[in-house]
Amino acid sequence: MKLKIAVLSGDGIGPEVTQQAIKVLNAIADKYNHTFEYEKAVVGAIAIDETGNPLPDETLKICADSNAILFGAIGDPKYDNNPSAKVRPEQGLLKLRKSLGLFANIRPLNTYDSLIHKSNLKEEVIKGTDFVIYRELTSGIYFGEKKLSEDGTIASDLCTYTAEEIDRISHLAFKAAQVRRKKLTLVDKANVLESSRLWRKRVTEISKEYSDVKLEFLFVDNAAMQIILNPTQFDVILTENMFGDILSDEASVISGSIGLLASASIGKHAAMFEPIHGSYPQAKGKNIANPLAAVLSAAMLLDHFELYDEAENVRSAVEKSIELNISTPDLNSTNHFSTTNVGNFLRDFILDDENTFYNK
Ligand code: IPM
Ligand code: MN
Repeated sequence: MKLKIAVLSGDGIGPEVTQQAIKVLNAIADKYNHTFEYEKAVVGAIAIDETGNPLPDETLKICADSNAILFGAIGDPKYDNNPSAKVRPEQGLLKLRKSLGLFANIRPLNTYDSLIHKSNLKEEVIKGTDFVIYRELTSGIYFGEKKLSEDGTIASDLCTYTAEEIDRISHLAFKAAQVRRKKLTLVDKANVLESSRLWRKRVTEISKEYSDVKLEFLFVDNAAMQIILNPTQFDVILTENMFGDILSDEASVISGSIGLLASASIGKHAAMFEPIHGSYPQAKGKNIANPLAAVLSAAMLLDHFELYDEAENVRSAVEKSIELNISTPDLNSTNHFSTTNVGNFLRDFILDDENTFYNK
């Protein structure tokens, strides 16, 4: 298969981890005879520095002309404590999601046996956790009208959802549940918010088309508690933009490190793959950031193009690296490996047929 991939490695540790994802994709291309062509483009703080715009037109064009986008990370501390900055790196990512219509953000979560004992949560609580969050990504409070009164003392962000916006992601989430454990939990705040009541109404209606899927509802405050109290109860979690943002960071604690969580953002015509972690500026250039979330995002890219054996090969390499403790400091405080070392291990594991790697 021939694929054109736009590479937007962005800020902070983005370039370092994306480089490992490309290394892994190249190993897959070699082994399975695919051609992956990459085209780099700037986004985020680095794009503001270079062009004054967090999402230059040129970048958007490269993305629109590609089969998929590999995204690194976005954000720079110089903007975080400056609430009056008019141009912010995050606007680049939000505009990219909106312009390409990437309405469904898919964030899978599972545990690794060899990491379970390192989690802050109890082993018996998290063992066997395997769920996926379907987060709506191009609407809700993130994209509603924003207002600030002239005297700067009143601010508001509007949360709006249309039936169509709810329906399109709900169908994807139900279809995912059908090939998983056939359970879908809608997370909302329908006891307070009108927009949440519309979600419940539409999702209840749509569920009739998926009668093999069990539908449950949870208020978001309760969901936040249930995710760490009893995470194995979940299969597919469907939720709106901001609740999904918050719950997925919370859920990452179950896996052992936010450096492990991958995501896919899917639209009608475009697809983007990005780690859920941020730009981790403290680690920038130190070769210590965990590349696995970026690599697992590349595995989701392979899945998206139905290259299932290839994706599985990447996941086995990742599992092996975790099992052998060939890990960055977030997972391995003693004798840790660098970002590049982990990437090299994954590449060698993939290219080494019959796993002769271990006998070397
Ligand atoms: C994420 C991030 C983004 C979001 C930020 C960087 C705008 O936190 O992808 O989860 O809030 O969606
Ligand atoms: Mn987030």
